[in-house]
Amino acid sequence: MAARCSRWVRLSVWTGTRPPSARRTLAPGFHQQFSTQTTPQICVVGSGPAGFYTAQHLLKHHTQAQVDIYEKQFVPFGLVRFGVAPDHPEVKNVINTFTQTARSERCAFRGNVVVGRDVTVPELREAYHAVVLSYGAEDHRALGIPGEELPGVCSARAFVGWYNGLPENQELAPDLSCDTAVILGQGNVALDVARILLTPPEHLEKTDITEAALGVLRQSQVKTVWIVGRRGPLQVAFTIKELREMIQLPGTRPILDPADFLGLQDKIKEVPRPRKRLTELLLRTAVEKLGAEEAARQASASRAWGLRFFRSPQQVLPSPDGQRVAGIRLAVTRLEGVGEATRAVPTGETEDLPCGLVLSSVGYKSRPIDPSVPFDPKLGVIPNTEGRVVDAPGLYCSGWVKTGPTGVIATTMTDSFLTSQALLQDLKAGLLPAGPRPGYTAIQALLSSRGIQPISFSDWEKLDAEEASRGRDSGKPREKLVDSQEMLRLLGH
Ligand SMILES: Cc1cc2nc3c(=O)[nH]c(=O)nc-3n(C[C@H](O)[C@H](O)[C@H](O)COP(=O)(O)OP(=O)(O)OC[C@H]3O[C@@H](n4cnc5c(N)ncnc54)[C@H](O)[C@@H]3O)c2cc1C
Ligand SMILES: NC(=O)c1ccc[n+]([C@@H]2O[C@H](COP(=O)([O-])OP(=O)(O)OC[C@H]3O[C@@H](n4cnc5c(N)ncnc54)[C@H](OP(=O)(O)O)[C@@H]3O)[C@@H](O)[C@H]2O)c1
Repeated sequence: MAARCSRWVRLSVWTGTRPPSARRTLAPGFHQQFSTQTTPQICVVGSGPAGFYTAQHLLKHHTQAQVDIYEKQFVPFGLVRFGVAPDHPEVKNVINTFTQTARSERCAFRGNVVVGRDVTVPELREAYHAVVLSYGAEDHRALGIPGEELPGVCSARAFVGWYNGLPENQELAPDLSCDTAVILGQGNVALDVARILLTPPEHLEKTDITEAALGVLRQSQVKTVWIVGRRGPLQVAFTIKELREMIQLPGTRPILDPADFLGLQDKIKEVPRPRKRLTELLLRTAVEKLGAEEAARQASASRAWGLRFFRSPQQVLPSPDGQRVAGIRLAVTRLEGVGEATRAVPTGETEDLPCGLVLSSVGYKSRPIDPSVPFDPKLGVIPNTEGRVVDAPGLYCSGWVKTGPTGVIATTMTDSFLTSQALLQDLKAGLLPAGPRPGYTAIQALLSSRGIQPISFSDWEKLDAEEASRGRDSGKPREKLVDSQEMLRLLGH
């Protein structure tokens, strides 16, 4: 709510004038009003891995380029802060590299700037020699089934944002008073969510999960989590490390149906090695007799998680009073096609699975950011050739908005370096606008006239220190600040 309040304050600043998104061209003489720069002025939109790796590569391979990173949140790092699970702290070490980049004299972080609303892409293109769009995939893919809007159904994206302190998700208040939760989709996000739901809360106490989320998880009554896939064990999207964590999760036991694995032993001989190892682990978990120690551990487990295969979501079932979710109707499927093209097709049979919570984890989705930027709504990406946005010289993209919402941080890094290379090649070839550009000086004036006060990296470092200090007493790496108003107050803005 607090975040919403601050937006209202800013909207009121625009009253009486056209909102910035309505303005598409800048006044004549725009460049002359500001001290202009002959060094390449580049801006990056988004401060997740794509934004930071793009900036890092640009700064490393061009000794003069100035890179400004615009970010809509008050704080940097995108999904590294708001996506990566709290019990995976080692993954967040990339923040150290990003911090070095942000501290470079030729780099500046500009938080609290919503590109496409506070400033338009054409305005950025006018002020900079090149603009790189690295704004990720902020929506979730909808299931498109009846009942999806019922209380008790939510996206994994919102649930993840909630436990990771994303301000806009702090009011989610998931109701964990039920016995059974169903997660739709079998990717790594689904496993993150299942693990957070089932991990004994005391194991999360020393992580950077928010205190509020931990409080709700401590009261949770959820005993069983079903992770449902429309295809089979050979097609799961999660990876072996994450599966192993589930299998070893304290206080829980896996439920796998050996019937789902019939005939798989022969099929896995032909699949690539990572898939083979993953499927072998699934197979062993499903069919092998347990050793005495593991059998005892599982027998004493109070919680369970299971994989259900060949089931596609068809309808969310309401409680008798129609007020919330009571279950999910799944269409039983069979597979058609071979290899990557294997598709799930309904057999006509259905199965009802009672549950009190449905989390849909069928993927993230990018949004169009500005009417002037081409966008492929079907693929959910900005159409591009090697990071060059089609028909838009000087405009580039990197990360999930370029590739679609798959791939880990390392893949995003490689992809971002490729976009940066393409930009630097164009710069060298004289394909970017010639002549000086004002860069941030011009945008600062626009933002200021619109009542937007950007947050700098040193502002973030103050918030970072405050979070670390709040976490220290309870032995946590940090207690995240989740209230935008409080952040502004702490910064004296
Ligand atoms: C739940 C989850 C857990 C994950 N866990 C792992 C993991 O453990 N290990 C791993 O390697 N990978 C993990 N990944 C994948 C990894 O997070 C992605 O590969 C990576 O974050 C993609 O980077 P990105 O910069 O394209 O997007 P993002 O990280 O989403 O960054 C985009 C940034 O753009 C900003 N932005 C959006 N719109 C605007 C706008 N209009 N104006 C200004 N700024 C804007 C956003 O606020 C955000 O900061 C996980 C992904 C998810 C969803
Ligand atoms: N620990 C980590 O390293 C970590 C953690 C989290 C995320 N990530 C990465 O982040 C990326 C995104 O992860 P993700 O889990 O959101 O996406 P994902 O890996 O693409 O998985 C999406 C899942 O949803 C299913 N699905 C899609 N549409 C569906 C529909 N209409 N009905 C039913 N099921 C549907 C997919 O099944 P089909 O295969 O049948 O389409 C798949 O099982 C991945 O690359 C992931 O590896 C990594």
